[in-house]
Amino acid sequence: MIGRACVGALLAEGATVVVVDRDENALRTAATAWQETSRRVLTLAVDVTDEPAVLRMVDEVQKQTGRLDVLVNCLGVFQATPIDELSLDDWQHVLDINLTSIFLCCRAAARVMKGQGSGRIINLGSLAGRVGGLAAGANYSVSKAGVICLTKSLARALGGTGITVNTINPGPVDSPMVDAWPPGKKEEQLARIPLGRLGRPQDIAGAVVFLASDAASYIHGAQIDVNGGLEMS
Ligand SMILES: NC(=O)c1ccc[n+]([C@@H]2O[C@H](COP(=O)([O-])OP(=O)(O)OC[C@H]3O[C@@H](n4cnc5c(N)ncnc54)[C@H](O)[C@@H]3O)[C@@H](O)[C@H]2O)c1
Repeated sequence: MIGRACVGALLAEGATVVVVDRDENALRTAATAWQETSRRVLTLAVDVTDEPAVLRMVDEVQKQTGRLDVLVNCLGVFQATPIDELSLDDWQHVLDINLTSIFLCCRAAARVMKGQGSGRIINLGSLAGRVGGLAAGANYSVSKAGVICLTKSLARALGGTGITVNTINPGPVDSPMVDAWPPGKKEEQLARIPLGRLGRPQDIAGAVVFLASDAASYIHGAQIDVNGGLEMS
């Protein structure tokens, strides 16, 4: 959902966008709509928890476009299982998708960006990763805290390479992910948001476009909260 808004916003800025998702059907449907208005969108069906597949994906992007300027890691799964009911399998599953995949994509993309002497890496964290989860289970919250820390580690390691790495932490966004929250949670959080509404996917896409732009060239290792004031640091 947020990814789609990011694709639209980046296309509007003139970027060539390679959209990656493991859901081939959703990708095909979305691609048909995008390709009606732009020839600058390509799609690849990849499960980004699969290390060899991620390496092939980055090779393919280079082959098709000749460059890799911006990596936006905007994928994930949500779970709200209470800690005493959380299985080890569910713990591992969410960490694999929400955190390990981002490590794999960042590592592969950074190798290419280092060669270019430039690049932007933008990781989608979550407010849950800062506060331990408002509706999310521990596995989701910890995976997002991991994304925030991974971003900082990468920012330290990649200083001087021309690459910047940052995290965007959305609060609740009007999306299927929030519709999957336990009953009553959405209304409870909505009542606490000073701006009086849930986030929209375009709100997050705006922050992505900003971090990808020249205006953000000195922002590195940062977390940008996009949450309507729900939590302030
Ligand atoms: N929606 C919210 O309220 C909210 C709030 C805070 C943070 N976020 C974060 O924003 C990002 C986008 O969220 P969204 O609401 O658009 O979610 P979404 O469920 O609409 O989209 C997530 C996408 O990730 C894809 N995906 C999952 N596992 C994958 C894998 N292994 N390989 C490739 N693709 C895979 C899914 O197919 C799906 O298209 C996520 O990182 C999410 O945690 C969302």
